[in-house]
Amino acid sequence: MGLLIEAEGLVYIYPDGHPALQGVSLRMERGEKVAVVGPNGAGKSTLLLVLSGLLRPTAGVLRVEGRQVGNKDGRRLRTQVGLVFQDPDDQLFSLTVFDDVAFGPIYQGLSEQEVRERVTQALDAVGMAWAASRISHHLSVGEKKRVAIATVLALRPEILLLDEPTAGLDPRGRRELIGLLRDLPQTMLVATHDMRLVAELLPRVIIMDQGRIVADGPTSEILRDERLLEAHGLEPPYPCPAAWNELPTREERRDEG
Ligand SMILES: Nc1ncnc2c1ncn2[C@@H]1O[C@H](COP(=O)(O)OP(=O)(O)O)[C@@H](O)[C@H]1O
Ligand SMILES: [Mg+2]
Repeated sequence: MGLLIEAEGLVYIYPDGHPALQGVSLRMERGEKVAVVGPNGAGKSTLLLVLSGLLRPTAGVLRVEGRQVGNKDGRRLRTQVGLVFQDPDDQLFSLTVFDDVAFGPIYQGLSEQEVRERVTQALDAVGMAWAASRISHHLSVGEKKRVAIATVLALRPEILLLDEPTAGLDPRGRRELIGLLRDLPQTMLVATHDMRLVAELLPRVIIMDQGRIVADGPTSEILRDERLLEAHGLEPPYPCPAAWNELPTREERRDEG
């Protein structure tokens, strides 16, 4: 275990003056899997961009493995922290799947053999080894998402940040992705609207609203607090209209027929 991420009072103001993070503090232990939920515009994506080093905080302190991240540490941070964007088309820009996954390791200056090993392992981890020579933009959305995750895994980050990983997936693609995320050992922070994903996969939830953390605790407690969820535009994972309980079960229908 051990403390992996420690953020204190993170502020991020976009160049147009919009304050997207207004003092965010959080800690994550190694191996934790945590959800970030909240309405559109809450600051979830901005938080992931700051934690990954792609945006530099306007104020506040970020420590990764006890070391404070300074202005010149963006590159180190990007190898420790891997961000999977919401839209896989933002992550895949090479011709083939192999080239997309190899891009990061090549850029890091690794040997050809090491690059090949990393690509094979990353594609195996997401069940896409069969697609290495396929053309990335011909893949389905679910397949692209998995390759996008592989591009990040190939850099062997300790922390995975995922932005809306199940958005746009059909039920089967969604199930496959949840299974895949469950099998990955990395520490994970997942921004999502998918409350079933949260309930099934992520033992801790952070609720954000208007650039602030408004709740942080065990998923089992937070998802039960319907007033808290409603106050921040969220829904419990299994809304079950009363009318559904009135419907006869399959057995009852068969007995009647
Ligand atoms: N490039 C940008 N320039 C200015 N404001 C932005 C930019 N990107 C996002 N924002 C604003 O910052 C706030 C937080 O956005 P975001 O982090 O994308 O929220 P979320 O992911 O929770 O929907 C929103 O009000 C959004 O409009
Ligand atoms: Mg977002």
